[in-house]
Amino acid sequence: MAKSDKTNSGLISWVFNHLDIVFSVLRWVKPTIVFKGQAFVTRFDDVSEVLERDWVFQVPYAEKMGKVTNGSNFFLGMQNTEEYTRDVSNMRLAASREDIGEIIIPFVETTATEILSASNGKLDVVQGLSRVVPTRLIGKYFGTPGWNENEFTDAATLMFQFLFYPDDAEVEKNALIAAEKTRQYLDQAIVERKSNRNQQDDVLERCLKLQDAEIPGMEDQDIRNNFIGLIIGAIPTTSKCVATTLNYLFDQPELLVTAQQSARADDDAAMVQYVQESLRLNPFSAGIQRVCTEDYVVAKGTLRSTKIPKGTIVLAATQSAMMDQRKVDQPSKFRLDRPSYIYMHFGYGLHTCFGQYINLAQIPAILKAVLKQKGLRRVADMKSVGPFPVNLEIEFDV
Ligand code: HEM
Repeated sequence: MAKSDKTNSGLISWVFNHLDIVFSVLRWVKPTIVFKGQAFVTRFDDVSEVLERDWVFQVPYAEKMGKVTNGSNFFLGMQNTEEYTRDVSNMRLAASREDIGEIIIPFVETTATEILSASNGKLDVVQGLSRVVPTRLIGKYFGTPGWNENEFTDAATLMFQFLFYPDDAEVEKNALIAAEKTRQYLDQAIVERKSNRNQQDDVLERCLKLQDAEIPGMEDQDIRNNFIGLIIGAIPTTSKCVATTLNYLFDQPELLVTAQQSARADDDAAMVQYVQESLRLNPFSAGIQRVCTEDYVVAKGTLRSTKIPKGTIVLAATQSAMMDQRKVDQPSKFRLDRPSYIYMHFGYGLHTCFGQYINLAQIPAILKAVLKQKGLRRVADMKSVGPFPVNLEIEFDV
C-alpha cells in the first residue's frame, strides 16, 4: 500500500471511530459539507429539513430491496407514490396501535421474564434474550415464527446489513441466500395458513382478511414482501437497541441504580426515557441515507446555507442532530426530562419507522425485565461483529 493510501485509510478509520467529535466540529464550522459526491448534514434543523423534503431527498434502497424480494420493492424502498401509501395503509390496518397494549406488551413481558427465570442467573443478553424476544414476537404477532428461530434471526440481520450498510460482496452473497430462504418460508407459511384459516388473530390472518375483501396490494406475494421488510426492520434493530442501552447503563453505575429502581417500580414512562437518552448518547446509527434528486439549497437564507447538487448521496446525520446544542440543552449530559421531539432514533418524515411505537414498548419492556434482577452484573464487555452486538454476558442472583 502506498504511503498516502495508508494515511487516507488511517484518517477514514479515525473519523469513523470519532464521529461525535467530527460532527461536533462540523456543526460549528461547516454544518453541511459536500465532498466528492457526498454530503453530510449535521445540524438538527437541517437534518429535519432534508428528511421532510422526501420529494427532493429520496430513499436509495429500491435496487437492493429488489434483490431481497426477487424483483419487487418494499415500502421503505419506495418514493412517496400511490403504491407507498397503499402498502403502508394496508399494513397499518393489519398491525394496529391498540395491539401494543393488548398483545405486544403482555407477550414481550412474559417472554422476557420467562427467559430470565429459566437462565439460572447467567445469560448472554444478545444470544439469549435481545435477539430472541423480537423474533418470538414476530412468531406470535405476525404468525411467522421462522423455519428455525436462530437462522431466521440471522437471516433478518444479514439482510439488514446488506440493505443499509456499504456494499460488501460477502455480505451480499450471504444476504441473498438468506433472502431466498426467507421468501420460500413465507410463501409456504401463507399457503399453510390459507388451508387453516381463522384459528388465530395475527397480522398474517388480518392480511388474508384484507385479501378476501379484494383490497389492492394484498396478493400473496405482496403480503410476503411486506413481511420480509417488516421482519428485517424489526429483529436486528430491537436487539441492538436493547443490548446497547443495557451496556451503557453498566458503564454508568449510578444510572444503573436509578434505572433499576424505576424498573422495580414498574415506571414504564421512565424506562422509555432511559432508552431514548441512552440511545441518543450511543446511537443505533450515524444517520439516514438519501439521494438528492435536484439541486437544492439547505438552510436557505442563513449564513450556513449550502447547495447540494443533484445526484449527491446525503447522510442526514441524526446522531449529530440529537447532539445539537441549539436544540438540545447540555447535549452531552444524560437527562431524563428531554422532550420526545429531539429523539430521531426512528427517523423522521415520510419514512419514519413503522415500528416506532412498538419500539418504545418492546425495548423498555425487555430492559425492565433485566433491570428487575437482583445483584445484576456484567460479566464481560459487550462484543459486536460488524454493526451488531453479538454477546453481552450478565449474571444475577437467583
Ligand atoms: C427497535 C429499533 C428500531 C430502529 C432503531 C428503527 C429505525 C428505523 C429508521 C431510522 C427508519 C427510517 C429509515 C429511513 O428513513 O431511511 C425506520 C423505518 C422503518 N422501520 Fe424501523 N426501526 C426499529 C424497529 C422497527 C420495527 C420493530 C419494525 C417493524 C415492526 C420496523 C419497521 C420499519 C419500517 C417498515 C420502516 C419504513 C417505514 C416507511 O418507509 O414508511 N422498525 N426504522
